[in-house]
Amino acid sequence: MNQDIRQPLPAAYLSIDEATKASGFTMASDIYTCSLLKTLAASKPGGKFLELGTGTGLSTAWILDGMDAHSTLVSIDNDARFLEIAENHLGGDPRLTLVHTDGEDWVHTHLGERYDYIFADTWHGKYLLLDEVLNMLNPGAFYIIDDMLPQPNWPEGHDQKALKLIEYLDGRSDLSVTKQVWATGIILAVML
Ligand SMILES: C[S@@+](CC[C@H](N)C(=O)[O-])C[C@H]1O[C@@H](n2cnc3c(N)ncnc32)[C@H](O)[C@@H]1O
Repeated sequence: MNQDIRQPLPAAYLSIDEATKASGFTMASDIYTCSLLKTLAASKPGGKFLELGTGTGLSTAWILDGMDAHSTLVSIDNDARFLEIAENHLGGDPRLTLVHTDGEDWVHTHLGERYDYIFADTWHGKYLLLDEVLNMLNPGAFYIIDDMLPQPNWPEGHDQKALKLIEYLDGRSDLSVTKQVWATGIILAVML
């Protein structure tokens, strides 16, 4: 299959990408994942979106591109240096709230929030506080994670953690789960 991304890049994508490279940030989601994030975002008009792990805002830019004018996105990260790049390039979008916070603190203080789409791209909501974040999904909401296929930068033992996470998600009777062997390995789940 031809895997070319034959769709326009978000307006800020190239400038964020340049700033990202200059900053030394190496954890950005790949462009295939980002393309899927945009397409899925387009299915939730008027939706409430959450991104755990903004990084420099590359994936954020794609999610925003898929969202309609009535949707809102909260994106959190604990690294002010990377978050500043997102703020500089995307901060003018009124649909976006960027939050500089620790994932654990944020989840614990927002347990009552509900979302239509969660991209969990940091420890919390993926390997930590998973149930708490899954509880934030509205019925029909997407839960999306990437990097679920072995990655060259995985530390020793991370493969076991990833397997445990996959087994856990598979075992949840309230989630419809699809595991994609594509891009970096994306798991897409919908809350029933
Ligand atoms: C995989 S990167 C996110 C990449 C981003 N979504 C993208 O595609 O460009 C993970 C992010 O989690 C952040 N992070 C790590 N520990 C955290 C914590 N305890 N609380 C909040 N964010 C954290 C890192 O600063 C990093 O930006």
